Amino acid sequence: MKRAELAEVRLREYGILPVVELADLNQADDLFAALSAGGIAAAEITLRTPDGAVALEKLIERHPDALLGAGTVRTLDDARRMVGIGASFIVSPGTDEGMIDYCLEHDVLVLPGVCTPTEVLRALHAGARLLKFFPAEAAGGVGFLKALAGPFRDVSFVPTGGISENNLENYLRQPQVVACGGSWMVATELLAAGKFDEITELVRKAIGIVEAVRGDS
Ligand code: 3PG
Repeated sequence: MKRAELAEVRLREYGILPVVELADLNQADDLFAALSAGGIAAAEITLRTPDGAVALEKLIERHPDALLGAGTVRTLDDARRMVGIGASFIVSPGTDEGMIDYCLEHDVLVLPGVCTPTEVLRALHAGARLLKFFPAEAAGGVGFLKALAGPFRDVSFVPTGGISENNLENYLRQPQVVACGGSWMVATELLAAGKFDEITELVRKAIGIVEAVRGDS
């Protein structure tokens, strides 16, 4: 199986993707330990903080088998850098054909952000096979996804933006949803306060929801 396909399979298995904004590089190990203790060796580390890229690189070195990717990738240069350090996937808030092309060429899973039918078409035509529906709640949530299921029933989405344990189940019940992303399990306040036990607990709860939904289907 190709590397990008494998990353997609693993993401589907987890059903959730913690979106991390890490302000302090020194917290990277504790954070990864907290996520793993909750049952998920995966994270999208965003490039929103100066420490983000370094933290991702460090985590990839220490945990080469984990599903660790870069988020908030807004330029082709950033995508190149992140692919260069071995990111398992690249997540962007929008659709950039050059970025999709580069990731496909390097066999790295790419999740371009989409929130209109035209963007879905653009991302598909550029070759992406898994799309980040962002910002999910603000753009119309599950109702919007259901409407997209008419013309795009064969397209896979990772909704992100405004998802929490309160609406996770609803999203996961949509057949086009592979996994849901979000910062609710690793909120900045929890990280700032060093509440790693709470992070573990939130991840456990989320995984419980994934298992309950999948057990039903
Ligand atoms: C992202 O970049 O994916 C979002 O900011 C995550 O959205 P959330 O913070 O509402 O989960």
